Amino acid sequence: MLGQVITIASGKGGTGKTSTAANIAVALCAYGEKVLLIDADIGLRCLDIVLGMSSYVLFSYGDVICGRATLKQAAVTHPIVKNLYLLTAPASFDEKEAFSQKNINAFLRYARRHFSYIIIDCAAGLGGANVAFGGSSDKCIIVSTPDETALRGGQIMADKLFEAGCEEIKLVVNRVKKGTIEKGHSPDIDKAMDTAGLGLLGIVPEDKDIPRCANAQKILLLYSDGKAVKAYNNIAKRLMGEKVRLLHI
Ligand SMILES: Nc1ncnc2c1ncn2[C@@H]1O[C@H](COP(=O)(O)OP(=O)(O)OP(=O)(O)O)[C@@H](O)[C@H]1O
Ligand SMILES: [Mg+2]
Repeated sequence: MLGQVITIASGKGGTGKTSTAANIAVALCAYGEKVLLIDADIGLRCLDIVLGMSSYVLFSYGDVICGRATLKQAAVTHPIVKNLYLLTAPASFDEKEAFSQKNINAFLRYARRHFSYIIIDCAAGLGGANVAFGGSSDKCIIVSTPDETALRGGQIMADKLFEAGCEEIKLVVNRVKKGTIEKGHSPDIDKAMDTAGLGLLGIVPEDKDIPRCANAQKILLLYSDGKAVKAYNNIAKRLMGEKVRLLHI
């Protein structure tokens, strides 16, 4: 069976794409899936840090597209989570081949034969290869904080990804704080969905374990039993087709 390609994108920066991509990937691995995580944040890649893999020699997906490495050579397995593989972003924008929809499509077609899930962590906005990856994906996830500006940015990004050919786009609302919603200081989840114009895949609460683990290069799901872990597990289950109730924050 061919793997599913899921692109994680946003309009504004810093909404939690990298945290979401890394932790959903680890959660899918914990359910026995073989997952390829692709860092598509050209020039500012950081999934290797979040996953504690920065000391590994990494070829980029650009090296694979340009024929300097095979996918097998370039996709590095995680030292602890053995069914998790990381493929990093090219360090610069120089190589046009790494951005064309045709090449990215062909590359993902090949990758689908070797992994059950391929999760792509994009840079914010429409630049680089984001739209090409999104357009070649089975699903896209827009990650937004519950702020009007981030949600509207998410809606604009989603429109571009629909236009590029992605047929299913869902919203993850990240950094949700119950108190802030209750006081009316940020939109509630229904309002967030309305503003983004998207159906909900999940919510992730504000959780200090997320930056704590990322800074220590530790895998959140192995070092925390907080609500964010539950939230990422729920999202992974939904991606696998299970019906899971929304997390009570
Ligand atoms: N739910 C959360 N609770 C607390 N902190 C969070 C949460 N989600 C993300 N963060 C923190 O917010 C910061 C930005 O997160 P992250 O790097 O995942 O965002 P990003 O969308 O990938 O950013 P960029 O657009 O720069 O790629 C990080 O320090 C991360 O640890
Ligand atoms: Mg990021």
